[in-house]
Amino acid sequence: MTEHTGQNMSDDPRSRLEAIETASAEELRTLQLERLQWSLRHAYDNVAFYKTAFDDAGIAPADLQRLDDLRQFPFTVKQDLREHYPFGMFAVPREQLVRVHASSGTTGKPTVVGYTQADIDTWAHVMARSIRAAGGRPGDICHVAYGYGLFTGGLGAHYGAERLGCTVIPMSGGQTEKQVMLIEDFKPDIIMVTPSYCLNIADEFERQGLDASASSLRIGIFGAEPWTNEMRRELEERMGIDAIDIYGLSEVIGPGVAQECIETKDGLTVWEDHFYPEIIDPETGATLPDGEIGELVFTSLTKQAMPVIRYRTRDLTRLLPGTARTMRRMEKVTGRSDDMFIVRGVNVFPTQIEELILKTPGLAPHYQLELRREGNLDQLTVNVEHTPHNEGADLATELQRAVKSYVGISCNVVVSAPQTLPRSLGKAQRVVDKRR
Ligand code: DLL
Repeated sequence: MTEHTGQNMSDDPRSRLEAIETASAEELRTLQLERLQWSLRHAYDNVAFYKTAFDDAGIAPADLQRLDDLRQFPFTVKQDLREHYPFGMFAVPREQLVRVHASSGTTGKPTVVGYTQADIDTWAHVMARSIRAAGGRPGDICHVAYGYGLFTGGLGAHYGAERLGCTVIPMSGGQTEKQVMLIEDFKPDIIMVTPSYCLNIADEFERQGLDASASSLRIGIFGAEPWTNEMRRELEERMGIDAIDIYGLSEVIGPGVAQECIETKDGLTVWEDHFYPEIIDPETGATLPDGEIGELVFTSLTKQAMPVIRYRTRDLTRLLPGTARTMRRMEKVTGRSDDMFIVRGVNVFPTQIEELILKTPGLAPHYQLELRREGNLDQLTVNVEHTPHNEGADLATELQRAVKSYVGISCNVVVSAPQTLPRSLGKAQRVVDKRR
């Protein structure tokens, strides 16, 4: 097992790019094929769920001769993990787990994920690689404001930053005043936090009469929720940083599945030597060619404790050729298929509204969308704040017009005073669904 999971000491993200980051496509595909064959076999032999699923589909690990053969294997969905709550998806005896995390579902029991020591090493390794790709270097001070606990954000960032050789400030989420104090006093170079919570921190700087853009921070590594390029500009300007996207999900490992590179800021390089991506048509399940938008699906290539085979993320994006690295990129995630709502036949993502809010001078980037059912029709209300001293203006009408012309739907817009909408301490809740 270790032969495919052990880290090579020459692949040290502290010193330089790892060899695999600049390997040829052919080298990468060869490595992926070998690892994929191992991972399918490992899942089949050690997890009853996968044995049954493969047997039912009439397919065996040995049938994978080429990477494309993967499309014949069955998908795994979140519900499968729920049904095997808490420890039924593990491929190693429980005693070999050194840690579990869990992601809270909207209803009922959380989804549990587990790690062996080798998995924690892999995770720290891809996170260190991610922070490096975002511009972090050994010796930097890294302020981690992702939540610590069952959520993978805090500890994932923490182990990665340590592995890279950073000085970690394990602040976690919340206590916003103290976040500002520590940034002022400890002078970190990097902040790792959700973009929505970073906005709160920026507001708190202002509230205290401090200039956030003059802080020591150089880099923000933002993820765990969808955010737009307009939000990037806002955060870069207000915080005086480079704002870089990081993607991941607990089921696949946590943060560090894909990472934007600071030199290009053009989507996220998927760390394909550990996580094999596919894009599928969410309706038919058919695999789509690179470049086409669909649902992102991942197969783990090296994970021991909880291999995932063709896990449907529900995140919508597309795969693009590599730029800063040879590995493929995924475009910034537009949203989750679960977050999409339909207003009078038009598919809408919260990020589309975010983009327009940020393009309207006088509106603050704090917003929440409310859905109600009126008769048979869904009605959308955009709740948003104005920036200080901008009340009164025709901001509501302006945004309403923009939504009508760019998204194609009529909505209500309620503009309220600064600091009136709920603030996130981690992942923002963008949609409040009052339809049921
Ligand atoms: O959010 C892991 C993470 C922590 C990623 C910190 C990045 C930074 P979960 O709680 O399992 O794990 O949620 C995973 O969050 O399927 C996406 O819908 C969303 N998500 C994560 N990163 C991004 C991103 C963590 N950069 C779910 N852009 C995923 C858009 C993101 N959505």
